[in-house]
Amino acid sequence: MIPNVLSIAGVDPSGGAGLLADLKAFSALGAYGTGVVAALTAQNTQGVTGVQPVPAEFIAQQIDTLFADVRIDAVKLGMLGTSDVVATVAAALRRHGVRRLVVDPVMVSKSGHHLLSPDAVAALKQELLPLAEIITPNLPEAEVLLGGAPIRSLADMRDAARALHQLGPRIVMLKGGHLDGPESVDVIDDGVTQTELRAVRIVTKNTHGTGCTLSAAIAALLPQHPDPLDAIRAAKDYLTAAIAASGRLSVGSGHGPVHHFHDLWQVSPSPGRR
Ligand SMILES: Nc1ncnc2c1ncn2[C@@H]1O[C@H](COP(=O)(O)OP(=O)(O)OP(=O)(O)O)[C@@H](O)[C@H]1O
Ligand SMILES: [Mg+2]
Repeated sequence: MIPNVLSIAGVDPSGGAGLLADLKAFSALGAYGTGVVAALTAQNTQGVTGVQPVPAEFIAQQIDTLFADVRIDAVKLGMLGTSDVVATVAAALRRHGVRRLVVDPVMVSKSGHHLLSPDAVAALKQELLPLAEIITPNLPEAEVLLGGAPIRSLADMRDAARALHQLGPRIVMLKGGHLDGPESVDVIDDGVTQTELRAVRIVTKNTHGTGCTLSAAIAALLPQHPDPLDAIRAAKDYLTAAIAASGRLSVGSGHGPVHHFHDLWQVSPSPGRR
């Protein structure tokens, strides 16, 4: 059966991150995509120029109306913005008994714009992390969640991943995109075992929405793999290939998007050629 997957996230009109990117990743990976808008942004590949919140009650209404009709097999959370919205979404997920939940604790955009109010961090830790099957923080987000020391090495990442597991999710995927080095290494911790996923660091500006795309890919694949680690590995392979193929797109002059449909679209012949 084709899984129905939901993203609750912000809208990036440039389509590289947020809800629009999530729907592309769902579609590329064999899931039927649905979406609840949790925030609006004015944004392009160069930066975020504004954020408009969506009233929490209306987010609850979107979720309740969707669940009243549609079977949802997995949920991914992205930008939520405020503590009000975090609490509302957590209550809705509990109300609907959501079990396959991927939480991407989005806090700051690639261009440096704050996307989560500081008081929402406490709500995120208390209400959402314990509900999550998988959380996917990047290094700055992990530092905020742990309220402590900077994470500067793979050894620091291993300690941080174990500490994040104590906050309640079943699996932590700590992303290493923000470290330097020839490889981008992510550390996965399920409370018992740590696994490292390594990928060659691709030299490109096109990393807008890598985190959104990865967490959406995991949500799309979780219902299709009995072992969540297999879903995570397949999602990571999908993302790495999407970054590698990003040069086939020409979208904006800042951090461009990854190519979500790299595996599905033929490379088009140049005009006039047969
Ligand atoms: N240049 C790169 N080459 C290969 N993999 C990368 C590269 N940059 C990031 N990744 C991988 O992409 C995923 C997302 O990592 P990153 O740390 O960039 O997330 P993020 O900061 O949340 O992204 P976003 O800004 O989109 O929210 C991770 O699996 C990371 O290892
Ligand atoms: Mg991110």
